[in-house]
Order: sequence, then C-alpha cells, then structure tokens
Amino acid sequence: AIERALRPKHLDEYIGQEKIRGKFEIFIAAARKRREALDHTLLFGPPGLGKTTLAHIIAREMGVNLRQTSGPVLERPGDLAAILTNLEANDVLFIDEIHRLSPVVEEILYPALEDYQIDIMIGEGPAARSVKLDLQPFTLVGATTRAGMLTNPLRDRFGIVERLEFYTAAELARIVTRSAALLNAPIVDDGAHEIAMRARGTPRIANRLLRRVRDYADVKGTGEITKAMADAALVMLDVDTVGFDVMDRKLLEAVLFKFGGGPVGIGNLAAAIGEAADTIEDVLEPYLIQQGYLQRTPRGRVATPLAYAHFGVAAPRTGPNGE
Ligand code: ADE
Repeated sequence: AIERALRPKHLDEYIGQEKIRGKFEIFIAAARKRREALDHTLLFGPPGLGKTTLAHIIAREMGVNLRQTSGPVLERPGDLAAILTNLEANDVLFIDEIHRLSPVVEEILYPALEDYQIDIMIGEGPAARSVKLDLQPFTLVGATTRAGMLTNPLRDRFGIVERLEFYTAAELARIVTRSAALLNAPIVDDGAHEIAMRARGTPRIANRLLRRVRDYADVKGTGEITKAMADAALVMLDVDTVGFDVMDRKLLEAVLFKFGGGPVGIGNLAAAIGEAADTIEDVLEPYLIQQGYLQRTPRGRVATPLAYAHFGVAAPRTGPNGE
C-alpha cells in the first residue's frame, strides 16, 4: 500500500523505459480506437523495475478493470477459471510470477488466450463431461523475472513482449524528486542524485532509500534531504558508494576471496553465502552483471577487474581461467 502511493497512474507520468512507453502509447491508442482488448503482453526483467506499475497503467489507460493474481496462487484450474469467467470485456488480467504457473493451470490458459474460450470439466467419474465456455475478450499481462523459464507455447501466445531495463541515475533522480514531492519531503537536486546513484538502477530501491533518508534527515537534520544527509543515511544503511548492499558485497566477496575470482558454480556460491540460487540469479546478479562486476560463463561466475578494484585488491595478472 505504501509503495502504491508513489506509483504513477498514467503513461505520461511514467519516468524512464522510454522505448517501451512509446510503444504502449501506440498499442493502447490503437486498441482503444478499434474498441478491442490490447494484445496479451509479457513484461520481464529484474524485480522492482515497474512491471506491476505498467500493468496497472495499461488497465487505466485502456479504461478497463485490472484483476491481479500470481502464478503460485493459482493452484487448480478452477482457480483460474473462476477469474476468467468473471472478466468484463477488454479487462486486464495481471499474473505476476507467471513462470510459476502449474502445468494444469497453464493448459486451460491456452484456449483462453487464443479463442477467449475455456474447457471445464463438469462432474466426476463416468458422468463427467467437458463444457466449453465463452469468455469476454481480455488482455493477459504476465510478469516474470525470467522469460527463459516460460514454456514455449505460453511465450508464443503473447503478442507484445517487453524487457524492462535498469534505470539510469538521471531517471532515478527524477523519480526520487517526484516521490519526495508526493511525500512532502524537501529535497535538493544533489540529494536526489545521491540516492539515485546508489539505488541499483531500480525505482523500488530508490523509493525505499528515499524514505529512510527522509527519516534520517528528519531526526538528524532539518528535514531537508541534502547530499550530505543522503550520504550519512546511506552509510548507516550499509549501502556503499556504488549502491551495493550487504548481500551484493557478500556475493562479490565470496567469488573474489572464497573462490579465487571464479569461475564458481551457482550451487557452490549459494551455499557459500547462504542465499537461494534463485534469489542470486533473479535479484542479486542482474545488476552486478549489467554494471560489469560479474560475468556469467559456461563454467560459472567470474569476478571482473572492476570487482577487484571495488574491494581495493589487485586483480590477478593472468585471466580468471589461468589463461
Ligand atoms: N515510481 C516507480 N517507478 C516509477 C517510474 N518508472 N516512473 C515514475 N515513478 C515511478
């Protein structure tokens, strides 16, 4: 609920992801003009980049209802059938973590997506029969951190597939400034920029850091969020100068110092830092890789010279593979 207060509600308030925004402006306007449902849409990318926000904006811009659920919540076909049969014309059904749909639920989704129809079983045993039900036209918006984990038949049924990217510091600074205004928190440009630079390219993190920096500035200062206040608060929060938190550093330090810079397999790395392999792959690694601190190779994870430099140690003269 707290996060929702800061979420933009319209496409023209959405900051960053310029190309995606431009495309949705066209696709939504076209669907509205034809009075049709928007094509099924798959949004993928690391957590916190605005997939849920975009789904809500799509529904609002289409002028339809949004029904929200998630892959793991839909345990049985009936759970999904109940939702689908209650949709109104051109509504948006948002399924978060869509890569975690069970195969039996996914099965009933296919005809729903292709023909706005579902086959449901009535009764049990010899009297059981299958009944086709017509649905209203609708838009599935699926979100996942990993497009690669979707089955091919499911992925093929999305007409719009978009990957959300990490935000630039300039974009995050605009988001922080906007959020601070919504929170009635006085902020100077340098303060917003400091938070932006240390938010791992991620609006959700930027907004979270903003709230904590505001707390700090309220108690330790006049309330104004300056660069110095932001820096002091972020030091207290263990967010380093490039935005890495305790877990980021734990991961990089493990690769560097426990595994000699790598390559190290994901399983060994997970055991060494006490974090689930999935979390490492979905949450921690994408930013470290994008920023050039870590590489994923066929033989495992490898620290780059930038990683050595960040921890103030000399990179080995030979390459990480001893080459
Ligand atoms: N808050 C979170 N994400 C945002 C975005 N992309 N634009 C504006 N405000 C946001």
